[in-house]
Amino acid sequence: MGVRIAWGITGAGDVLGETVAIMKEVLKNYDLEVHVYLSKEGETVLKFYKLFEEVKESFPRVRTEKGPNAPFLSAKLQLGEYKLFLIAPATANTVAKMAHGIADSLITNSAAQAMKVDVPVYIFPVDQKEGEVITKLPDGRDLKVRIRKEDVENVERLRRMRGITVLGQIGEIEEVVKKIC
Ligand SMILES: Cc1cc2nc3c(=O)[nH]c(=O)nc-3n(C[C@H](O)[C@H](O)[C@H](O)COP(=O)(O)O)c2cc1C
Repeated sequence: MGVRIAWGITGAGDVLGETVAIMKEVLKNYDLEVHVYLSKEGETVLKFYKLFEEVKESFPRVRTEKGPNAPFLSAKLQLGEYKLFLIAPATANTVAKMAHGIADSLITNSAAQAMKVDVPVYIFPVDQKEGEVITKLPDGRDLKVRIRKEDVENVERLRRMRGITVLGQIGEIEEVVKKIC
């Protein structure tokens, strides 16, 4: 049996397709067991981008948030069932909450509880650099959005937080996996 990790997906459409591709790639190339946990909006946005069925078909365990402790991911993390908790992609909302110690959703609560017992948490926030970026709409069209200074500041706050590693690029996920496999 492979190394077991928990992978949290929040409601960010930006780089969602790339993230799902990387998830499948690391599953194929490494001795891993990936359990997927979706925020409520993570499920909504996966459906918007027509990726929900693909994720369900590719991963044996996909659970969607009912509340901060349901499913009880925080306990599984604290009891050592997972080698690490990876959150990708992370919305500006989830990052803002975590940066300010709020733990009222499945992903933010699980991350906070994991950090309390030194289970490594990795996060890939979509909004990392201030300024304009082009993102893909669910129908394939481009949309120009401006990343806010406040959201970038929250990412910087997370970078300084003990127990969590902010990934600057989505490609760094493979390095994280390689280290534990
Ligand atoms: C189609 C779609 C795409 C979205 N993409 C993003 C995104 O790229 N980044 C972001 O921060 N929020 C995005 N949102 C908004 C979040 O889903 C929203 O802030 C939500 O409350 C996040 O909840 P969560 O952090 O618990 O997943 C998107 C929403 C929709 C409907």
